[in-house]
Amino acid sequence: MATIGIFDSGSGGLSVYRELVKLLPSERYVYFSDNAHCPYGEKTPAYIQDRARFITDFLLGKGADIIVVACNTATAAAIATLRSEYPEIPFIGMEPAVKPAALGTRSGVIGVLATAGTLKGSKYLDTRGRYASGVKVVEHVGQGFVELVENGILDGPEAESTVRASVTPLLEKGADILVLGCTHYPFLLPVIQKVAGEGVRIIDPAPAVARHTVRVLQSHTIPMDEGPFSIELHSSGPSDSLHRIFALI
Ligand code: DGL
Repeated sequence: MATIGIFDSGSGGLSVYRELVKLLPSERYVYFSDNAHCPYGEKTPAYIQDRARFITDFLLGKGADIIVVACNTATAAAIATLRSEYPEIPFIGMEPAVKPAALGTRSGVIGVLATAGTLKGSKYLDTRGRYASGVKVVEHVGQGFVELVENGILDGPEAESTVRASVTPLLEKGADILVLGCTHYPFLLPVIQKVAGEGVRIIDPAPAVARHTVRVLQSHTIPMDEGPFSIELHSSGPSDSLHRIFALI
């Protein structure tokens, strides 16, 4: 049985956990929500690197064999640092799904929703340069999305107007595919779909990240599937938001 450590600035990483557990239902999971320091979106890379080190030490103390950085912003700011400082530990990062979006667009315009930290990061800029050179990429920060999810507001008028403010500019520029580049955003997917309309495809990268995790576990010959399944939920701040989102998945 593998012990899989997962972390995010808050509850968003549970959108990755819910895909992992479909493929790996018999492992031990340890989830850490850094909600006392959420959101990460506007924090400096140095700040996020410090948090990522602290959380990595915590998860290793819990016996993690592998760590899933279930946060695009933390991946952008800290995964290179983590890989160089903990060379023996496999780290899985998030990658905005620019490649499938670029392959799938019919309008030739793809929209990326992410935090400011992710959109500024070299990882995203490299991915965009590599896979989206033939299409137009339009970007927008999901302003207020993380706060909605952390407060458990996943539908209703407030969620809809917040989502509309960030999604409409992408639609107006012709995007027919929206990439969710922040792990909190999939919890708002029904609202995003409603605002965008049925003709717009929305891509959550979490299933691809879960498949990649299985491949990395195999390549490190970390035993899987022996069970029993378990999950521990930890947070640096109050735990009610984490438990509320966990109950929904
Ligand atoms: N869930 C996050 C991400 O994937 C972080 C959002 C934030 O804390 O700003 O980027």
